[in-house]
Amino acid sequence: MRETVHVPLGDRAYDVLIGPGLLAEAGTLIAPLLPRQRVAIVTETRVAALHRDALRAGLADAGIEAVAMELPPGEATKGWAHLAQVTEWLLDQKIERRDVVVALGGGVIGDLVGFACAILRRGVRFVQVPTSLLAQVDSSVGGKTGINTAQGKNLAGAFHQPSLVLADTDVLASLSARDFLAGYGEVMKYGLLGDAAFFGWLEENAPAMAAGDMELRVAAVKRSVEMKAEIVTRDETEQGDRALLNLGHTFCHALEAATGYSDRLLHGEGVAVGCGLAFELSARLGLCSQEDPSRVRAHIKAMGMKADIADIPGDLPDAAGLLNLMGQDKKVVAGTLNFILARGIGQAFVTSDVPEDTVMSVLKDALRDK
Ligand code: GLY
Repeated sequence: MRETVHVPLGDRAYDVLIGPGLLAEAGTLIAPLLPRQRVAIVTETRVAALHRDALRAGLADAGIEAVAMELPPGEATKGWAHLAQVTEWLLDQKIERRDVVVALGGGVIGDLVGFACAILRRGVRFVQVPTSLLAQVDSSVGGKTGINTAQGKNLAGAFHQPSLVLADTDVLASLSARDFLAGYGEVMKYGLLGDAAFFGWLEENAPAMAAGDMELRVAAVKRSVEMKAEIVTRDETEQGDRALLNLGHTFCHALEAATGYSDRLLHGEGVAVGCGLAFELSARLGLCSQEDPSRVRAHIKAMGMKADIADIPGDLPDAAGLLNLMGQDKKVVAGTLNFILARGIGQAFVTSDVPEDTVMSVLKDALRDK
């Protein structure tokens, strides 16, 4: 039950391996990349307690020695202070230009370590070993690395592709149901943005997948990664089509900012709510049928996830306040909000041509239900 998705980016091409048992084989899989039998692992304490020893054992089986560094868990780690700490630790460990660094963790670790590797000695290779569903289907693939700054999320960074991604689907068993489902928000997004048949497959199979069916998990991660790889290959540095991956994200970022990037709303939960709103907006603009947003929300509800703004606990700003937060999004180009809208399920497109009053009406109605 092992799948490989190739990301064909010329001299930066790499494979994403998906399936159970990959940590145990990490040594054999990483060895071909190494000039010497030594790697540095960067992880965070929660993930380390669960998976670091399995990774170390897998590396040791192939005779690879590993030094490891553990950072605190959580989004607050993804900043300048820990970027400096990781970079200087890698230098202290005498990681050379041709060595390989292993990022073991979720999106925070992958983004931070990837950025450290982009700047370390002007570019050192790294292997992503994503441990959350969100990281397996999104952040570990495609080479976006970076940190948050005082001004906002992901505002300093670099495109730096990994040399290999090992998405071990066994590790997903250690996620809480809520974290798994938050990652599922990004899986569902792929069906909605470009593959209606995949969305139909998810409507049928995602409940069993969330309950633990390994074959379904591998299939869902594989299709998601295939779609991401295809889009990234077309538009590596987001000059156009890569923005499709941000379906639901303009609404999501406003809701995340409004909830203080807190436990009230996880990123993937915001993506799911945002996808519903993006389809609602598309329907109101006459781009897709009114059944489409209803179908999207019905599936999100059926998965036991937050489907509407009304499901977010606590107070929120009014519609004008949320619209203002959307204006802070980094996808604003020359002051115009860029939206990902859809002509139907699986038919998303990027546009800046969205009347503000229609966005306001979608937000007002969603807040009225709260
Ligand atoms: N997560 C969106 C992207 O990689 O472009």
